[in-house]
Amino acid sequence: MDLEKYNVPVPRYTSYPPANHFTTDFDGKDYAELIAGSNDRKPGHIAIYIHIPFCRQLCFYCGCNSCRLEDDVRVKNYIDAVRSEILMVTGLLDAGRKISQIHFGGGTPNSIEPGYLTGLVDLLSDRFDFIENPEIAIECNPAQLDLDYLQALKESKFNRYSLGIQDFNRKVLKTVNRRPSALPVEELIEFIRRDGGSSVNLDFIYGLPLQTSASFAETISHAISMRPDRLVTFSYAHVPWMKKAQLILEKTGLPEPREKMEMFNTAAGLLKEAGYAPVGLDHYVLPGDELNIAQQNNMLHRNFQGYCSRRTTGQVYAFGVSAISQLEGGYSQNTKDIDMYIAHAGKSGFAVEKGYRLSRKEKAVREIITSLMCNYRLDFAELSAGLGESPGYIRQMADSSRLRSFAADDMLDFDDKRIIVKEKGKFFIRNIAASFDPAYKEGKNKYSRPV
Ligand SMILES: C[S@@+](CC[C@H](N)C(=O)[O-])C[C@H]1O[C@@H](n2cnc3c(N)ncnc32)[C@H](O)[C@@H]1O
Ligand code: SF4
Repeated sequence: MDLEKYNVPVPRYTSYPPANHFTTDFDGKDYAELIAGSNDRKPGHIAIYIHIPFCRQLCFYCGCNSCRLEDDVRVKNYIDAVRSEILMVTGLLDAGRKISQIHFGGGTPNSIEPGYLTGLVDLLSDRFDFIENPEIAIECNPAQLDLDYLQALKESKFNRYSLGIQDFNRKVLKTVNRRPSALPVEELIEFIRRDGGSSVNLDFIYGLPLQTSASFAETISHAISMRPDRLVTFSYAHVPWMKKAQLILEKTGLPEPREKMEMFNTAAGLLKEAGYAPVGLDHYVLPGDELNIAQQNNMLHRNFQGYCSRRTTGQVYAFGVSAISQLEGGYSQNTKDIDMYIAHAGKSGFAVEKGYRLSRKEKAVREIITSLMCNYRLDFAELSAGLGESPGYIRQMADSSRLRSFAADDMLDFDDKRIIVKEKGKFFIRNIAASFDPAYKEGKNKYSRPV
């Protein structure tokens, strides 16, 4: 079996190049130049990401940029700094462009008063028009969610709600220092969908202590009985060199890779049987969902916020501590230190710590990796037309000996025109993507493993 061969540290490719390649010789002035250049680039819409780092309780497995919520003064100072950053950045944007997406991530956005979040949506809607049916999305921890909170968000036109369930098994939750949903999840879903137009996603993680293939199957079956619009099964990313709290989980013991793979496969089987369509590696949606249609038409796209369709994708301007803006010309990342963020963004509107400008070749690699990761195929002519390059230029980036090796392992088919990833290759899509990445050297950087 290829499990040992391919279960090596490899980037998750939420960006190309991955964030560990960003450099500190990049500051607010460079970001301002990237923003100015982004006004006439494709995709033309404005996509907004706002990072709310606060959480009421920190989960031991957490890989996100999160910190404990201490007091409301700190929250207020933070939101004031985010408002300054929004005013500065949006002042550099062409006022005729439209917002297609606003995404609140974290941390736990619903750990703070809803008025802070709706106030930020109001600030943005004062300055820009929206496309028809834009996405206004929030990641919520259901341990702190009630119907009044949801009502306030609904009134501000939030229409995509992602609930972090992780597991329904209370013993698993207790081991990872997490509380279960305060209200029955069925009740939350029913309330969110009540007036129509809003959809619910549920997040799960497999590979946590105490989980078995059978226990995770129970959790997923319970989720299926609620018919969420979307569901994600994240592979637990164990990166204790970056997240020290994860070491606590090693004491209880983590499932073996083979067992983890069984959890993934069992869950995928249950979801397919229940009529869910897989999108990308680990997302599942009800048939007819925008993402399912986008994938069928090879129009699926991906950014730090997850999968999206070409309709809602845009240049991503990100606000808040650690937030990463993803623009056609490159990336800009804010400081990860909340006090520094408040001080700098509050004063100058910028809190940039590092960034990256993409070369012509890197833009091509980024498109290749996006196409492979989202649509499991690569059409050299199609992709080169989108980039204004010749098919030969794209074709020569493929390392034929690596492709032959993947083909020999039944991971993909390829010829002079295209690469088609096969069922077996989908699980190791990160490894296939890495074969196009000139910056990737096996064993050189520390990344999580596919399984
Ligand atoms: C910012 S959190 C979601 C919102 C909220 N804070 C919560 O926990 O419900 C985003 C998602 O990242 C996933 N996640 C966090 N740490 C992870 C890790 N180490 N490996 C894989 N997924 C992880 C979880 O599924 C979580 O729901
Ligand atoms: S998983 Fe969510 S609630 Fe838990 S620490 Fe991370 S961001 Fe906070």
